[in-house]
Amino acid sequence: MLLVSAALVIGAMSGACAAGVPQIVHARQNHFKTLGRTFKSLRDQIGRSHPKWNLVADDANRIEHLAAALSSWFPAGSGAGSGVRTRASATIWSQPQLFARAARKLLNRAQDVHRAAAGRDLRALRLRARALGQACGSCHRRFRAHGSWW
Ligand code: HEC
Repeated sequence: MLLVSAALVIGAMSGACAAGVPQIVHARQNHFKTLGRTFKSLRDQIGRSHPKWNLVADDANRIEHLAAALSSWFPAGSGAGSGVRTRASATIWSQPQLFARAARKLLNRAQDVHRAAAGRDLRALRLRARALGQACGSCHRRFRAHGSWW
């Protein structure tokens, strides 16, 4: 746990040096847009009585990959106050272990979705997708600021 967050911080700092903050924030927001679109596409499919399972598999796969990468999108110094419009709350960096836990919860739930998708179990998939959505919401409540500022 401690090692994981230390690695997160070190990896994050080298990331901030390698690219400018505006690019980092822009890329992060694009990743989240992709995540949002993909999750919506998944929910649309599983709302049907006969989903297109190949689309479901693609979406589940993409969501899992994005969830696995999420913590690397937040290098130190890429929060508000960096001169870039972002809703990333300062708590992400002041409480890195809590943030890492929220990111890990998303990944675990994305893996559950992936498994249910692979098994083509629509009932399980709907439940798992709902749990995934709760992981998005609980992180946003804690770590995404309401307004945006410069
Ligand atoms: C571990 C925390 C965390 C999790 C889990 C999380 N998000 Fe977010 N999300 C954020 C933060 C922080 C921002 C603000 C990023 C910024 O503005 O720099 C954000 C922003 C967004 C945005 C707005 C992007 C933009 O700027 O237009 C969308 C859409 C989004 N998230 C969707 C999702 C979805 C869908 C899920 C679940 C599948 C999810 N998020 C899970 C933390 C999280």
